[in-house]
Amino acid sequence: MVSQTTPHRAHALALALLATGSLVAAGPCDIYSSGGTPCVAAHSTTRALYSSYSGSLYQVKRGSDNATTNIAPLSAGGVANAATQDSFCAGTTCLITIIYDQSGRGNHLTQAPPGGFNGPDSGGYDNLASAIGAPVTLNGQKAYGVFISPGTGYRNNAASGTAKGDAAEGVYAVLDGSHYNGACCFDYGNAETSSRDTGNGHMEAIYYGNCNVWGTGSGSGPWFMADLENGLFSGANPKNNAADPSISYRFVTTALKGEPNQWALRGGNAASGSLSTYYSGVRPSASGYNPMSKEGAIILGIGGDNSNSAQGTFYEGVMTSGYPSDATENSVQANIVAAKYATTSLTSGPALSVGSHISLRATTSCCTTRYIAHTGSTVNTQVVSSSSATALKQQASWVVHAGLGNSACFSFESVDTPGSYIRHYNFGLQVNASDGSKQFNEDATFCPQAGLNGQGNSIRSWSYPTRYFRHYDNDLYIASNGGVDTFDATGLYNDDVSFVISSGFA
Ligand SMILES: *[C@@H]1O[C@H](CO)[C@@H](O)[C@H](O)[C@H]1NC(C)=O
Ligand SMILES: *[C@@H]1O[C@H](CO)[C@@H](O)[C@H](O)[C@H]1NC(C)=O
Repeated sequence: MVSQTTPHRAHALALALLATGSLVAAGPCDIYSSGGTPCVAAHSTTRALYSSYSGSLYQVKRGSDNATTNIAPLSAGGVANAATQDSFCAGTTCLITIIYDQSGRGNHLTQAPPGGFNGPDSGGYDNLASAIGAPVTLNGQKAYGVFISPGTGYRNNAASGTAKGDAAEGVYAVLDGSHYNGACCFDYGNAETSSRDTGNGHMEAIYYGNCNVWGTGSGSGPWFMADLENGLFSGANPKNNAADPSISYRFVTTALKGEPNQWALRGGNAASGSLSTYYSGVRPSASGYNPMSKEGAIILGIGGDNSNSAQGTFYEGVMTSGYPSDATENSVQANIVAAKYATTSLTSGPALSVGSHISLRATTSCCTTRYIAHTGSTVNTQVVSSSSATALKQQASWVVHAGLGNSACFSFESVDTPGSYIRHYNFGLQVNASDGSKQFNEDATFCPQAGLNGQGNSIRSWSYPTRYFRHYDNDLYIASNGGVDTFDATGLYNDDVSFVISSGFA
C-alpha cells in the first residue's frame, strides 16, 4: 500500500523543518499546494520554487553569436546555477529571454509585445533585461534577479489556469525595495490578454514604486499597492491608506490576494521577520471592481496596457489558484527568509578607489591615444598625453565617488567642474551639475566590470545595465549591444566599451 501524506500533514512537516532551521524541505509552491491554493504560475531566476523542481529557471541569450542557454538550479529545489550563466556570457553581453514557469503549466514569461500604451505604431516589443543587472546571493550562493529598466517588460497573454473574472487568486513577489520610480507601472500579476486597458477590474497585480497619481500610503513611498487597472490601490477607499507603509527594506516580500468582494495586501522584509497586513477588506467602491473581470494574462515590469516607464527588480514570484490563507502566506514568508537573500558585489575587473583621480583610455585600435574628456556638457574622447595643456588634462580627469544612486557602484566628478558629474541623458553622456535628485543620482551611477574585450573595464549604467560607456564617432553614449540607435551598433562593440583606467592626468 502506498502511504499518503495529507496536504495538512505535509504543511505541518514543512513548518517543522523550517522551525528547526534544517534544510528547507518545501518550496513556496509546495507550501501553497499544502494550503489548498496551488501555484498556477511560478517564476524565479534565483531559485526553484518547488522542492522537487530541477528544470530550467530561465534562458539567456548572448550578444556575441545570439546563442541561448538555459539556467537550472544547482540541484532540485535549489539556487540557480549562476556559474553556467557567467561562463556562457564571458566576454560578451547577455539578456534574459525567457523566465520559465515552474508550475508545469507552461506559463512562461517572454519579451512583452506592444500594447495600448506603446502601440504597434509607436514602438515594438519591450526590451529584455540584462542578465547581470541584479546579482544577489541566496544562502551564500550567487544568483541573478531580473533588473527592469524603463522600457523593459515580460508577458504571457495566453496563460492557462490563472484566475479569470471574479475567481480567487493569490500573488506574491520578492523585489528590490531600493529600485523603483514613480512612473507607471512596475507590476507582477494578472492583467489583460490584449495588452490594452479594457477597464476597471481587468487586472489584479502587485505594484511597487512611489507613483502617487492614484493611491498612496503613509510617507512618500515607495509603496506596495495593487494595480486593479485604472488605479493603484493602497486600500479600498479613500485614496490614501495610512496603514500601507513606505518601505525601506532592501529585499521586500509583497503578497496580494483577491476573491469576491475581498482582497488583501500583506508585506514585509524578505530577509527577516513576518508579514504585516497593510489592507484586508472589501473591493473599491468605484464601478468595475466588484465583481472583478480578471483576464488571466501575466505581466512582469509593466502595466496591463504595456505602460513601460517604470523600474524595479524581481527575484521570484507566483500566482495561485484560490485565496491563500494568512497562515499559508506566513509559511511562504518563512521560506523566503530561510532562502537568505543578500547583496553581493555589482562590480568586477580592475578596482577603483573612492577619492582617486582617474583617466580612461579607449582601447579600440582607431583610438588608443584618446581619453574620455568633456567639452562643456558633452562627454567625448580627445587625444591627451603627458605633454597636453593643463586645461585638456583636467578635462580628461575624473574624481571617483561612491555611486550617488547606489554606493556599491561609482560616480565620476569632473576635475575642472567640481559638483558636476558624468550622467546619462537620452542615452548620451553629459557632464552636468548635480541637482541632488534621485533621477540625477541614478543617471550618474555606473558599475565597472572587467573589460568586455579583455582590457581594462567596461562601465555599465546602474539604471540601464544592458548599456555601457561607449565611444562612437568620438562622443560618449550608454550603448546596448545591438539596438535602435546608431551608437548601439554591434560592430566593434566590445572594443568601444572597454577602457583602460589609469591615474588621472590631473
Ligand atoms: C543577432 O540577432 C540580431 C537580431 O536578429 C541581429 O541583428 C544580429 O546581427 C545578430 N548577431 C549575430 C552576432 O549574429
Ligand atoms: C547639462 O548642462 C548643459 C550645460 O549647462 C545644459 O545645456 C543641459 O541642458 C544640461 N542637461 C541636463 C539634462 O540638465
